[in-house]
Amino acid sequence: MSTQPTCRLSGNNLSLVLDLGMQPLGNGFLDPDSTDNEYFFPLQCGFDEESRLFQLMEQPDPRMMFHDDYAFLSSTSQHMQRHFADLAETVLRAGYLDSQAPFVVELGSNDGIYLRHFAERGIPHLGVEPAGGVADVAESQGVAVLRDFFNLATAQQVRDQHGAADVISAANVMCHIPNIREMADAISLLLKPGGVLIFEDPYLGDVVQKASYDQIYDEHVFLFSAMSVAEIFKPVGLELINVEHLPTHGGSMRYTLGRPAKHSVADSVPTTIAREEEQGLNRTETYSGFALRVQQSARDLHELLHALRSEGRAIAAYGATSKSTTVYNYSEVSSDLIDYICDNTPTKIGKLSPGVHIPIVPEADFVENAPDVAFLGAWNHEPEIRSRNQWFEESGGRWISHVPKVRFLD
Ligand code: TMP
Repeated sequence: MSTQPTCRLSGNNLSLVLDLGMQPLGNGFLDPDSTDNEYFFPLQCGFDEESRLFQLMEQPDPRMMFHDDYAFLSSTSQHMQRHFADLAETVLRAGYLDSQAPFVVELGSNDGIYLRHFAERGIPHLGVEPAGGVADVAESQGVAVLRDFFNLATAQQVRDQHGAADVISAANVMCHIPNIREMADAISLLLKPGGVLIFEDPYLGDVVQKASYDQIYDEHVFLFSAMSVAEIFKPVGLELINVEHLPTHGGSMRYTLGRPAKHSVADSVPTTIAREEEQGLNRTETYSGFALRVQQSARDLHELLHALRSEGRAIAAYGATSKSTTVYNYSEVSSDLIDYICDNTPTKIGKLSPGVHIPIVPEADFVENAPDVAFLGAWNHEPEIRSRNQWFEESGGRWISHVPKVRFLD
């Protein structure tokens, strides 16, 4: 194991609320012959009552995480393809785009799953994406990409070259950006006066409710709530005008922000904030209770898989998600308990899972070498995966999920 320095996240008065031990990068899939010097860092979460932000105490250098071999491809899920087609439709219908000079920007455009709907319609757009491999895929779909991190300098560069944006979108990206204050400034700089920021990320309220601690890994610096988002953007004059709870990634929230005089505030904003206060998302003690449930979940998973193994069951996992990296490493589930993880992402196949080194195989292997029991690493895609693999349950196979508690999905 090798440990290299991490960035201490600053600017907040954080109380340590959850310690998930030393963890590898969630997406740090390894070649079988290069497991030496694997990168590990302390995965710890803090909560700041003032800003209401739940965040990592320390994070690896983003260049360790978002590089040309970045393994996550958005378009591997049909559900997500529909999700982004719907979001593009919503943006087009909402009348956010200037009819004379429309311009849509996406932060972290991945493989172009969202922007290609604008590209296909000839609408000026730009993705800002630091990971070269996924940017290549987006460009091959006709999506324009600036291969860089989004910050004040790149916001200014985009504005100089293309003008200000009507819509800035980001999906599962904002929570990755450590310097959230600079990001808010950069968004404000790039947005037209009547423009909107629409972003969605895994929702803290769901994570706490479901003890879905697998949402916590190196890339997710923050887990947002409506309360914390309102606080972050207040200093740059952007207010929350709508929130929408989404089923994606096991429970996400879509936040829409704009400048106060330009938009009305939907009822969903005060309603959601009131519900968050009831849930205690503004209090440190809530997260102490959450930490106890997380510890129990990890113990339960280890014990269940261990018991099944002792009975001689073949156990596999479905979906080599970055999320499940936290689960396997925290609950000490490795290749002695899980034979393989199947996944449909070409760049993950043939690799080993981060930290615990379980082999990743193609989905076809799940059919050819079906286990008795399968841990649903991609539990957030449960309906899609179960409906495509009905034969598994029909032939006596059983799924296990750890959310909201460790159990068989019967
Ligand atoms: P995500 O939870 O971060 O979206 O990652 C889902 C992972 O699961 C990704 O590696 C692709 C994989 N996957 C499959 O292998 N088969 C499937 O049917 C689905 C929906 C996802």
